[in-house]
Amino acid sequence: MCAVKAPPSYGYAFVTAHRFLPSGPLTGRIRVPGDKSISHRALMFGALAVGRSRISGLLEGEDVLATAAALRAMGATIERTGEDWVVDGVGVGGLLQPEQALDMGNSGTSTRLLMGLIASHGITAAFTGDASLSKRPMGRVIDPLSTMGASFTPSPGGTLPLIMEGMQPAVPIAYRLPVASAQVKSAVLLAGLNTPGITTVIEPVPTRDHTERMLGGFGAKLEVEEKDGERVIRIHGPADLNPCDIVVPGDPSSAAFFAVAASIVPGSDLVIENVGLNPTRDGVFRVLAQMGANIEKLDERDVGGEPVADLRVRHAKLRGIEVDPAIAPSMIDEFPVLFIAAALADGTTETTGLEELRVKESDRLSAMAEALKLAGANVEETDDGLGIEGTAGQPLPGGSPIATHLDHRIAMSMAIAGLVSRDGVEIDSIEPIATSFPNFTALLNEAAK
Ligand code: S3P
Repeated sequence: MCAVKAPPSYGYAFVTAHRFLPSGPLTGRIRVPGDKSISHRALMFGALAVGRSRISGLLEGEDVLATAAALRAMGATIERTGEDWVVDGVGVGGLLQPEQALDMGNSGTSTRLLMGLIASHGITAAFTGDASLSKRPMGRVIDPLSTMGASFTPSPGGTLPLIMEGMQPAVPIAYRLPVASAQVKSAVLLAGLNTPGITTVIEPVPTRDHTERMLGGFGAKLEVEEKDGERVIRIHGPADLNPCDIVVPGDPSSAAFFAVAASIVPGSDLVIENVGLNPTRDGVFRVLAQMGANIEKLDERDVGGEPVADLRVRHAKLRGIEVDPAIAPSMIDEFPVLFIAAALADGTTETTGLEELRVKESDRLSAMAEALKLAGANVEETDDGLGIEGTAGQPLPGGSPIATHLDHRIAMSMAIAGLVSRDGVEIDSIEPIATSFPNFTALLNEAAK
């Protein structure tokens, strides 16, 4: 039984810290919640369509709910009806000025994509967020959106809280991404929806392409071309979006925690159903396979325009590898849990080219180095990666309370480390997990019972 219990010293009503204890094998079948990136976009595009869109499988995590609340504040009607969500859109160009600051909570995706939407609407909006989000760089979207005509008053360092004023009509631009970021790409494309003319984004390194896939489904005129090894994406504005019925596949980023857990807990044989395997997102499963993981794709199919399969994951002996930095964009959110796999592998795993991890919900290189060391792993932090010497399957000592820095993925990764520890791993707070994976601990208890 994988018990998830608070240590007795914490008052019951205010328990946030948890100790994740050593676990038996993970078995049976589980289904992880809907994809976070796709859920944000389904709500946003539904809110910009004329008419009613229906979404099934929406992730009901705090980040996505922050997007829904912001869109409601700008005129869209968004409701849960039964298992589905229904969105009545205002049409491209129809967003209303919100009366209050938009509270983005912990969500960088909500913030940056909504800034893109607002940039080409003639409205003013204020954005606020929690302590983690308020440290994250917004200059990367402020720069291109300012060139399109929007103006911004950010906090020092280009951070939240900020106020922005959109420009209608905005000016179309051609923008080459200086950093591999689907959020920046999407912000510019979304601004392009209500901008007369062709807005172009050039991606030297491909990033997740849900925006492009889904905008096509909503009827936007959008072209994607490979040119000189780069992806060139053009959106024609102003666009008319038609309502659409969307089925959101399971989130590969959430499935990754269970894929690693089943790989490192002896005796495990777990099926994770309905996992999105878009090639711009599935890097973690490819790297785990290189490390010797036993991951079988069952019933490969298409769900809502995205490749999907059930993953059967069995315990395997993992070996340390050098992770090719070119794969990083397709698994950018999965490094924290990959580091757990590395900590249990035979030999050393080296990662490089991961500077972007320093500007996620926390500085994930230093947070994971610190957390793994506290759990007894052998880790070396460099400027752009971690080197981890694995235990060849021996449990980590575990024990010490770990700071999760308001970062859901640090919390879940260290929870998985607890399953293969001697004394369990205590994390300071499980609350951040609700931003992306509200039923994480329930599923863990179910799989490891
Ligand atoms: C996301 C893009 C990625 C990822 C984030 C979700 C998206 O961020 O880390 O969790 O939905 O577009 P970057 O674009 O900053 O790499």
